Formats: sequence, C-alpha cells, structure tokens
Amino acid sequence: MLGNFTYSNPTKLYFGKDALDGLNEELPKYGKNVLLIYGGGSIKKNGIYDDVINILKANGKNIFEDAGVMPNPTYDKLLEGIERARTAKADLILAVGGGSVCDYAKAVSVSVNLNKDIDAWDKYYIRFDDVNCPIVPVGCVLTMVGTGSEMNGGSVITNTKQKLKIGHVFGDNVFPKFSILNPEYTFTLPQYQMIAGIYDIMSHILEQYFSGTDDNTSDYIMEGLLKSLINSANVAVKNPTDYTARSNIMWIATWALNTLVAKGKTTDWEVHMLGQAVGAHTNATHGMTLSAVSIPYYKYIMPYGLDKFVRYAVNVWGIDEKDKSKEEIALEGLESMKNWLKQIGLVLNLTDLGVTKDMIENIADSTLIMEGGYKVLDRQDIISILKASL
Ligand code: NZQ
Ligand code: ZN
Repeated sequence: MLGNFTYSNPTKLYFGKDALDGLNEELPKYGKNVLLIYGGGSIKKNGIYDDVINILKANGKNIFEDAGVMPNPTYDKLLEGIERARTAKADLILAVGGGSVCDYAKAVSVSVNLNKDIDAWDKYYIRFDDVNCPIVPVGCVLTMVGTGSEMNGGSVITNTKQKLKIGHVFGDNVFPKFSILNPEYTFTLPQYQMIAGIYDIMSHILEQYFSGTDDNTSDYIMEGLLKSLINSANVAVKNPTDYTARSNIMWIATWALNTLVAKGKTTDWEVHMLGQAVGAHTNATHGMTLSAVSIPYYKYIMPYGLDKFVRYAVNVWGIDEKDKSKEEIALEGLESMKNWLKQIGLVLNLTDLGVTKDMIENIADSTLIMEGGYKVLDRQDIISILKASL
C-alpha cells in the first residue's frame, strides 16, 4: 500500500426491500425541520414521495420542499436551495433521488451557514476551500444507481454561464449521515438512465484501477467488482426487474466510490474530467459522456500503462494470452470492452451527444488535467482524444 492514510466512512446504510423503515430509526436523531429535496417528479409517479411524506409526518416533522433539481444540477438552482434551507431553518436535509439530488443536497448543506458575502461556487468549486461553517446533516433515499453519492463526499455542480462542471470531493463530515438503498426503487428508471448508471459505475472503478504499478489489494477488489457488474448488467438489460441483478448493481455502485478502493493507491479520473467538460457544453447524461470518450482515451494511454491493460484484458475480459504480444492482448481487452458497451446500448461517440468538430477547442478548455494516470495529458492530447471520440 502506498503512503499513509486514514479510513473511516460514517454513512450508515439501510439496504433491501424494507430499507425505508430505516427512516423511522434515523429521523428522531434530528430536529423538527426537514427540507425534502427531490428532482423533476419521478418520485411522485412511482409512489416513493408519498411513502417518505407519510414517515416524515408520523415522526412529527415540519416538512419543507425544494423540488425540481435537474440532472447535472446548476449553480443557479443551488442559490435557490440555499435560500430555501435558510428559510426552513433546516435541521436535516433529506435528498430523495439520484446522484444529482444527493450531490445538490450536499452543496446546500455546506452553504446554508456561509456568510452572505461568500459565494459558494467560488469557495467550493473554484478555490476548493474546506468547509469552515456549520453543516446541515444530509440523509439520502436513493432512486438512481451509479454515482456513489449515497456514501461519499462528492458534489458536482454545473455553472452554465462559465461552462464549467466541477466536482468538490468533501470530507467525511459532509458524507450523508445515512442512506436508504432499496433496489426496487430503481425498477422505474428508464433503460437509458439504467445503462448510463451502469457505465458510471464501471468508469469509477476503471478510474481507480488504471493508475500505479504497485501490487495493490484494491486492484483485486476492483476486478471482482467489475466481473460482478458485467454479469449483473447482462441480466438487468434483458430483465430490468430482476431483483438479484439490480441489488448487485446498487451495491457495486456504492463500493465503487465510497473511498475504500482508492485507499493506499494512486488514481486517475481523467475520463471524468473529459466527460464533465462534455457535460458542461452539452448537458448530456453523465454516464454517456464517459462511455463516449473512454475507449479513445484508454487506447491513447494504453502504451504508457501496458502491463495493467494486459492484466485487465486477461482478468476481466478473459482474453487468451497465448502467442500474442502484450499490445495485442491489451487491445483485445479494450475491443471486448467496446463490444460489450455497444451490446448493452451505451453511447460510443460524442456526435450522438450533440458535439460537433467546432466545439472541440472549447471543450478542451473546460477539461481539467489530472496527474495520477499513466500519461499526464496536455491540451493537444485532449484535443486528439476528443476528435477520436467524435
Ligand atoms: O428528476 P427526476 O424526475 O427524479 O428524474 C431523474 C433524472 O431525470 C431520473 N430518475 C431518478 N430515479 C428515478 C428516475 N426516473 C424514474 N425512476 C427512478 N427511480 O433519472 C434522471 C437522472 O438522475 P440523476 O440524479 O441526474 O442521475 P445520476 O444519479 O447519474 O446523477 C448524475 C449527477 O451526479 C454527478 C454527475 O456529474 C451528475 O451531475 N456525479 C456525482 C458523483 C459523486 N457524488 O461522487 C460522482 C459521479 O462521477 C458524477 O460525476
Ligand atoms: Zn461518474
């Protein structure tokens, strides 16, 4: 293991068909005022909203609402949420939705008690300052699987004016205090969102896998998570209400990005930087922005981390090594991955997300450069990868 680290994850999880009962255990721990945050209305259609409201009422809470959190939540919406949380004097923020709702709830929670002259975007998303004001606790009822936001400190906000989509990874004081994970809640997700979430999970794992040359336990854990993900995704795309598959996918998503597998190793995250830049310019679905750039990116960096790409091809995709060069094995692995992404219905080019050739320079300007991958990209590299992704 590399370096020194501390590990603690304070989020309490309630998992399974009866997970919502956990709300009755959690709610008495907090004051009366609950700000219920949700998205564009899916929870009203599938009945989760009514179930949550009934439990809040039974626990004697004053309920305030902040609805309409959009996928890829914006800074303008965040300002609205901060005002609502202040007016409500919220003791608890309850996020009911996907990663967007959960991320947004965290951004509200760290901003409610900022001095009014401090701008939350500049503080957290440009300067990456630590939180130095009281935080309103967040709880989460998850309805869309992929981001891992239910058990991490990530909070991604899009500034539409600045064309920037940036994530602040807050410390464990900002992690949800509890998360309710009922796999059945994900049954009503449109297929497009389900598979986007599946690739988001895969990408989170690969971002942490494709980095470093040391022998690291996390890499073995990640290979197991990947194999289980591929297996359950194959079942879920054919039968979205298969509980076993959907529950496995939900659990893998949480473990892919709850900080565990990143401990004691280096990580990359450049695919996310490319995907987020694409998202800032197109507002496309997060998982699809990642699938559209991944294969060109991995082919580009493969020569710099060849041994790991060989290991990935053999251990995850079952490529036969016999009589082949390392390059051939590694490329066969990426080819198998590409075929699988196509087979389950993921977007494999930026053109399908509305990106045109003349947008490439601006997207490159919005792409942050990370230093943990097998090659630290420069602007020209980024442009080449984006062009290859069109
Ligand atoms: O808004 P509603 O009506 O609820 O509809 C949502 C939304 O349109 C719908 N949906 C969610 N649950 C549903 C459902 N529809 C039917 N039935 C259900 N049970 O799905 C759509 C997408 O939801 P969203 O929350 O946007 O998806 P996701 O969970 O993928 O979150 C994406 C956001 O998370 C950020 C992304 O950048 C993006 O902004 N990320 C957060 C991370 C983190 N916290 O660590 C890491 C990730 O890499 C990611 O960047
Ligand atoms: Zn992601």
